[in-house]
Amino acid sequence: MDHFELNNGVLHAENVPLPLIAAEVGTPVYVYSRATLTRHARVFRDALGVLRNAKIAFAVKSNPNLSVLKVLAAEGYGADVVSGGEMERALAAGMAPDGIVFSGVGKTAAEMRRGIEAGIGQFNLESEEEGLELAEIAASMGKVASAALRVNPDVDAGTHGKISTGKAENKFGVPFDRAAAIYARLAGTPGLNMRGLTLHIGSQLSKLEPLEAAFTKVGGLMEEIRAAGYTVTHMDLGGGIGVPYKTGEVFPQPEEYAAMVARVTGNWGVTLMFEPGRVITGNTGVLVTEVIRVKDGASNPWVVVDAAMNDLARPALYDAWHDFVAVEPKGETFTANIVGPICESSDTFAMARTIDKVERGDLAVFRTAGAYGATMANTYNSRPLVPEVMVDGDNWAVVADRIDPATILAAERVPEWLA
Ligand code: LLP
Repeated sequence: MDHFELNNGVLHAENVPLPLIAAEVGTPVYVYSRATLTRHARVFRDALGVLRNAKIAFAVKSNPNLSVLKVLAAEGYGADVVSGGEMERALAAGMAPDGIVFSGVGKTAAEMRRGIEAGIGQFNLESEEEGLELAEIAASMGKVASAALRVNPDVDAGTHGKISTGKAENKFGVPFDRAAAIYARLAGTPGLNMRGLTLHIGSQLSKLEPLEAAFTKVGGLMEEIRAAGYTVTHMDLGGGIGVPYKTGEVFPQPEEYAAMVARVTGNWGVTLMFEPGRVITGNTGVLVTEVIRVKDGASNPWVVVDAAMNDLARPALYDAWHDFVAVEPKGETFTANIVGPICESSDTFAMARTIDKVERGDLAVFRTAGAYGATMANTYNSRPLVPEVMVDGDNWAVVADRIDPATILAAERVPEWLA
């Protein structure tokens, strides 16, 4: 459920007509609904209420906008961060340092040091090597870093190959059969407080079974580690729950997910941690775009919009589907290809899709663009960096400026020997 609805024939974000935002800010522009964000945050949090002790660390990578993080901080969310930049954003948004989890396969020494300094809650270690380095840094600072070991459970998440992370051939975590030995070694290393295990098998999962299989497997590993005399107080189950991108698709609901987790982890006796991203932010945003022109094609017309793969990369990268609807639908449809202005064929949002009839100058939106949308934008083809707007009832504000090509050009330097 979201708050992007037609009102008198015009698509609104909450109470604000999208043409108003387009007129004032220009297009393309991401528009977020605060009510939708809050609703999703609460539904997920309330669903996890059936668990004895759950902590949520929002996957900042899905939408790192400062205003988005502020809303989630106010809902009691912590953050799952994967870079120094994301960590600074989470702190700037007012998230409690001990609610921040630092994930990622390539944390640098400087990032680890900064994390320890800031007092972040947990480092999710991706290797023995990383654990030993973190221990050394912490010890040199006279500190102890809390950490969990990321295990690669070798389970197929059944999602797109580029967003699968839990198979043995993926770069993430330590091999399942070596995890207990690595945990033991790290637990005995001064500077580290090994407190648990973590896993994340992939993103945009449409079924709970792979998650259940992975949780069960890692639960067994937890027992093995405890039986060897080590302590496990925290288990971080990652993120990955998918959302429907196509009208009519059905995905697992947060309550079903929570019930499955409760069933699998009922006797674990740990604090459970979660790292949801897309399920919180996916539906909270749309990308508003204007049709530049409709060009005749060999089979279907080409709808050329002013958003491109640099603004919304998911279709080009993962063959992802985003529903495309007119902001002021005329009640007619046609079958068309939707493309952006960038000079490569991967700049294609949809082929042979039946969509609202649109023509030059019409506004339209790509739906479900709140997760992995603006955050993956870039300036390819020397296009501006896309701006972001947040709506709250009748109110709205630009929450990230459009960064124009002149500003980007101004950051470039021509060396003297070229001048
Ligand atoms: N935790 C870890 C360690 C992760 O690597 C990720 C996502 C998450 C949590 C959050 O996953 P979510 O709940 O959002 O599925 N750019 C891709 C998605 C990449 C996901 C990377 N890791 C896309 O647009 O589909």
